[in-house]
Amino acid sequence: MSHIESVLHENRHFPPSTTFQAQANVSGVAHYQALCEQARTTYPEFWANLAREHITWHKPFNRILDAGNAPFFRWFDDGELNVSWNCLDRHLTHYSARTAIIFEADDGTVSHVTYQQLFERVCAMANALKEQGIHKGDRIVIYLPMSVEAIVAMQACARIGAIHSVVFGGFSAKSLHERIMDAGARLIITADAGFRGGKTIPLKSVVDDALAMSTISPIERVIVYQRAGCSIHWQNGRDVWWHDCVSSQATFCEPEWMNAEDPLFILYTSGSTGRPKGVQHSSAGYLLGAITSMHWVFDAKPATDVFWCTADVGWITGHSYVTYGPLALGMTQVIFEGIPTWPDAGRFWRMIQQHRVTTFYTAPTAIRSLIKLGADLPAQHDLSSLRLLGTVGEPINPEAWLWFYRQIGQERCPVVDTWWQTETGAHMIAPLPGAITTKPGSCTLPLPGIQADILDEQGESLPVGEGGYLVVRQPFPSLLRTLWNDPERFKTTYFPVEFKGCYVAGDSAHRDEEGYFWIMGRIDDVLNVSGHRLGTMEIESALATHPAVAEAAVVGKPHDIKGETIVAFVVLKQQCPRNGAAKAMADELRHWVGKEIGAIAKPEEFRFGENLPKTRSGKIMRRLLRALARDEEISQDVSTLENPAILEQLKSVC
Ligand code: WT7
Repeated sequence: MSHIESVLHENRHFPPSTTFQAQANVSGVAHYQALCEQARTTYPEFWANLAREHITWHKPFNRILDAGNAPFFRWFDDGELNVSWNCLDRHLTHYSARTAIIFEADDGTVSHVTYQQLFERVCAMANALKEQGIHKGDRIVIYLPMSVEAIVAMQACARIGAIHSVVFGGFSAKSLHERIMDAGARLIITADAGFRGGKTIPLKSVVDDALAMSTISPIERVIVYQRAGCSIHWQNGRDVWWHDCVSSQATFCEPEWMNAEDPLFILYTSGSTGRPKGVQHSSAGYLLGAITSMHWVFDAKPATDVFWCTADVGWITGHSYVTYGPLALGMTQVIFEGIPTWPDAGRFWRMIQQHRVTTFYTAPTAIRSLIKLGADLPAQHDLSSLRLLGTVGEPINPEAWLWFYRQIGQERCPVVDTWWQTETGAHMIAPLPGAITTKPGSCTLPLPGIQADILDEQGESLPVGEGGYLVVRQPFPSLLRTLWNDPERFKTTYFPVEFKGCYVAGDSAHRDEEGYFWIMGRIDDVLNVSGHRLGTMEIESALATHPAVAEAAVVGKPHDIKGETIVAFVVLKQQCPRNGAAKAMADELRHWVGKEIGAIAKPEEFRFGENLPKTRSGKIMRRLLRALARDEEISQDVSTLENPAILEQLKSVC
């Protein structure tokens, strides 16, 4: 198979302003290059120096990197620390009264928690877990709504060395059951229910269903946080209220000193096929990745910033950039229980105004839906507190990038498009905003210490402009250590032999003349049209530049002659067109793609809907779209689908 062709060209450049550059943690491109050079010449000491500078160690390490049993790398593995101590205790001497968390509930109620208060709540919960018989190394499943309690629960696990596995509150009983069983969890922390967009989302009943799915469950205890006050089933002897377990606990808990390589958490990632993968992260290496990226990419200023990452703690983004990164730096952050479109599509902008948010990090899918539902709303809010914007989760099309840059950042705030994964724990490729000129649609350049490359199927590095497999050549501290219970799958998935020891991310990408990386989509989604291999991202981006289009996804459908033809699923900014209007729109868009990219990329078929099928984390479910495009029976689990009703709409072809 040949390389993947890049067909879309984006030439706009946005250098950092002199004002931003002057105050930046990494100021100017020479500073960035010096860090990269240092990493190259002093690898792996480069990381050791950062680990000494940014982590407070209980017992300092002497060994840096052990690659003897590659790809099971070990970092700083004779050192000891406690992650929760690094996130809480070390801030208490100087700024115990600083606000750690500004929590905004779904209904708009706001509460503030200082570092001192958070410390005490984490300690009390840690003591409660110990009282329940939880020890270092035990697994605890956390199935909670976005709340201060979710952060307290995770930090309490870290404090006593229990391994948390957070399951997003939107997952079904079946998904929850699978994760409980695979992790062999002894205890689950949940809530009666949560609130999202004015609706009550039951959680405890889902836990009850999950636990009823097998006769022998490893779960001994269910701790229930009373959030909604709704009536729930209660199993005496198994279920306990959160408030009952913590009320009599001491507000100090001696941290468990952990080895640097002890697992901090497991997080299941669904991947494209088969059983979910339990991504296992380390303690020190993971924490280091979260901290260094906060400094470099978010240009963190703990004393003055108000940081807001909109991700739920059920995702890796909520682990690294809610629970661990910001707290390790002693930042003030906003966390939000609700959804961006309720009570209206101005919710985010109103919250930025109210809490004087400086750094705002969200997903392209949220940005696109807010453009569709209220492009004029940002102008009605005071967004002058913002100084930096970020995106994560999928490639951002240049149209959405520019809207974010202009309407939200008012051309004042750099936009950092951050490429990384559950498996990498922290940002891998992203602009350092005071140093790197951005280009809409590109995640730009690797972070210092990250040797990213693009390879063909034989593992050879590809020249400029040719798309292939995105890899990282050298081990780095925040990389996953293994897959829980499945080291073999870890090796074959991420370190396949043809790639000679590189970490293979599973994404396709190409590089431009300046070495900038452009992510083209998942390798498994690459289309093959008449012998041309095309990434999904560029065609979707071209569609999204049409003024009528809000969002688009393309998939391949087998074709006798061409190999595959392209089927486009499109959401328009106005109402979903029908019959003749749909046909006319399809023709227009086909022509548009022909003009923007070339005839080869023209979708053969169009289907219009009010929405696209997405996972709860906002990723387009392309497997499902492929089944729709092929008119196959839908066999996938659609229980985690945000909007199952739209599947019917997307069945009609034009
Ligand atoms: C996959 C990882 C990273 C935390 C949230 C998702 C895609 C992520 C970008 C980006 C292009 C991106 C990739 C990656 N992705 N960020 N900035 N540009 N693609 O974590 O669920 O592990 O997903 O999301 O395909 O491999 P995840």
